[in-house]
Amino acid sequence: MEPVRGENPWGRRTIFLDRVDSTNSRLIELARSGVPEGTVLVAEQQTAGRGRQGRSWYSPPGGLWMSLLLRPPAGFVLPGGLPLLAGLAVACALEECLGISPGLKWPNDILLGEGKAGGILVEAGEEGGGRFVVVGIGLNVAVEEFPAELDNTAVSLELDSSRGWRRALLRVLLRRFRLLYLELLKKGSLAGLLGEYSRRSVTLGRLVVVSTPSGAWRGKAVGLTPAGELIVEDAAGIQRTVCSGEVSIRPAKKEPEG
Ligand code: BTN
Repeated sequence: MEPVRGENPWGRRTIFLDRVDSTNSRLIELARSGVPEGTVLVAEQQTAGRGRQGRSWYSPPGGLWMSLLLRPPAGFVLPGGLPLLAGLAVACALEECLGISPGLKWPNDILLGEGKAGGILVEAGEEGGGRFVVVGIGLNVAVEEFPAELDNTAVSLELDSSRGWRRALLRVLLRRFRLLYLELLKKGSLAGLLGEYSRRSVTLGRLVVVSTPSGAWRGKAVGLTPAGELIVEDAAGIQRTVCSGEVSIRPAKKEPEG
């Protein structure tokens, strides 16, 4: 992929903190006080990092814990596509900066092999009659140890924490993300980006379990809609669109030996 160059207004105002409860929570407060689109908050450590579905997010020193503020134009109706966009931007940045090609698990997980190396939490709010969106990105870059409950699922990219990866990764990530976002605004759909996303997807083509408040069902992930929803074909061959809830990938069946 071609490197992207030039001035990027996103990140021109970047706040680096040693420690914060959650970069998302703090940036939401700042958004309400009127800071501009493109403001970025990065913390060395989060004491109350938040994940999806009300879960907590383990955020010791050694990760990239960051949030970006967007102020989408009125009429922008695609916040559901933003986690996909952010995931794609992270994947492109990791490839470009570090030569690492992660997998993208719909809608918001960054995988390295089978392990979760990162996640995205998109939250929307209102301020002075205008909407804002905070895109939180967490990436286990040089996290040495995980608590026991995450030990089977979380992985780190295992980079040397003393190397200056953070600023370079942040710069490329923000450039990639902005280009993807501008294309999304221009086209009003993710359609033009789905090819690139699908190439990195570890969900498409796999058997999945969809957990919803009303129960779980199984099917095969067969595609994505232009709004970024997952299309899952159930056992009766009916295609259903999944826009929220939890999707887990069923492990591939082992071929019998011998
Ligand atoms: C997930 O559950 O997969 C989403 C995890 C998102 C974590 C990031 S770390 C930076 C930002 N601040 C937070 O409190 N959460 C997000």
